[in-house]
Order: sequence, then structure tokens, then C-alpha cells
Amino acid sequence: MTTLPLLKTRNLTKFYGNRIGCKDISFDLWPGEVLAIVGESGSGKTTLLNCLATRLTPTTGSVEYQMRDGQYRDLYRLTEAEQRLLMRTDWGFVHQNPADGLRMAVSAGANVGERLMAVGERHYGRIRNTAADWLQRVEIAVDRIDDLPRAFSGGMRQRLQIARNLVTGPRLVFMDEPTGGLDVSVQARLLDLLRGLVADLGLAAIVVTHDLAVARLLSHRMMVMKDGRVIEQGLTDRVLDDPRQPYTQLLVSSILQV
Ligand SMILES: Nc1ncnc2c1ncn2[C@@H]1O[C@H](COP(=O)(O)OP(=O)(O)O)[C@@H](O)[C@H]1O
Ligand SMILES: [Mg+2]
Repeated sequence: MTTLPLLKTRNLTKFYGNRIGCKDISFDLWPGEVLAIVGESGSGKTTLLNCLATRLTPTTGSVEYQMRDGQYRDLYRLTEAEQRLLMRTDWGFVHQNPADGLRMAVSAGANVGERLMAVGERHYGRIRNTAADWLQRVEIAVDRIDDLPRAFSGGMRQRLQIARNLVTGPRLVFMDEPTGGLDVSVQARLLDLLRGLVADLGLAAIVVTHDLAVARLLSHRMMVMKDGRVIEQGLTDRVLDDPRQPYTQLLVSSILQV
């Protein structure tokens, strides 16, 4: 059996008025592959990610996604209801700020359980057990299940957001600076945890980061963006150990502050 790409992006371009958000982006993402998008602030990383996740509509270009039935569909030709269903079932989206991806007014357990209910689970006991199991997987003590996320530290909130996203068994997870708002000591542990989960679950992921250490640890392949365009892409180790573009060489040698 031949493996086909999960996602095929062609000439994706987003303008904000006259300003370029991202321009002419083409790439394939394979099942189980982790792709990092790196570049300095304003290079178009978030614009690209939001277009891919259908949170923004591109100006031109297409993204074909292989649905669970094996058929490719152009994401921007799906109905809003179909897009929402993908978002709830097949995809996760981890925001930099956990408050953007959590419901802060309901308990940790409910934050995880709610996503299960959204895919049709109705049995209260099973929902609670699965939520407890996922809290453990992200290293949150199960006796915190009834606490509100606002009682949690930044690192715990981010781990809760990850549990909420992974509980439904997505095939693809989008992440925008998943460790960006955290203390350095907390970042390292979260990265380890994320790397383990992504590998165990065989997840495909697209991770936006300005931090090359995050790209090194999490990704198989990376794309370097500058002024809305991809200027270099390749296997992560190759790009970081042997960057070809002068701009990437600057990034890697940390001369550029990003
Ligand atoms: N909502 C918006 N309206 C107008 N311009 C925007 C908007 N969002 C981003 N931009 C511009 O698009 C470019 C890319 O921004 P962004 O995708 O946020 O980059 P990054 O995530 O790499 O920091 C920048 O020039 C930014 O100013
Ligand atoms: Mg951004």
C-alpha cells in the first residue's frame, strides 16, 4: 500500500489589503510527520497556519486534505459545517495562550470531556474516566479534575489544552508557539511531553515557532519563512546543521534576534 500525503498545499497566498501575509506556499504533509514553520516575527507563520486550519481564507491557492474516507477535499470548498466537523474530530489546534483554547469557566475534566461529547460520547462514567486518563497522560494529578483552569499554573494550563485537543484522537494537530508563553524550565518538560505524545499517537503536526530549539526537538522537517515566503525547507537536521540560504545561516547562528 502506498502512503499518500495527508495534506497538499499549492500556491497558498494571503494578502491583507496590499500587505503580504504569506505568498506562494506549496508543500505536502505526510501522515505522522511533524513540520515546523520557523521565521522571525512578522514573517507570516501565523497567517499560514491559520489559512491551513481554515481559520482564515486565503486570497488564492488550495489545500487538499485527505479525509478519513481516503478522498481528497479542497478545504476552502468545504461547507462551514464540514470545516467545523474536521476541527472537532480530525484536527486539534493548540494556541500559544492556553486561555484561547480552553474554557476557563468550566473544570479541567469538563474541558477534556466536552470534546468527547462533541464527537458523540454520551456515557458520563466513560467520559469522566477518559478525562481522568488524559489528565494523567499530561501529568496533571487526577485529584485536580474538578478544578477550574484558572487555578492552574501556565504550564498546567498548556498541558490541559493539549489533553483537550488529543482526547478525540485527531490525525493532525496545529500548534502556534505551543511553549511560547512559558518559563524556560517549564518549556523543556512540556516539549518532552509533547514529543512523546506525538510519537506515541503517530500524529501529524504543523508547529509554528520562532524557537529553533523547539523545531529541532519536535519536527522532522522544517520550512523557513521570510517576508511571507518560504525561503528554505528540508529535513530539520539538514536545515539546522547545514543551512543553505544566508538568511537561514544567520538565524541558526543566532545573529538575528527573533
Ligand atoms: N489581521 C491582519 N491585518 C493586517 N495585516 C496583518 C494581519 N495579521 C498579520 N498581518 C501582517 O502579515 C504579516 C505576517 O504576520 P504574521 O502571520 O502574524 O507573522 P508571524 O506569525 O510570523 O509573526 C505581517 O506583516 C503582519 O503585520
Ligand atoms: Mg505569529
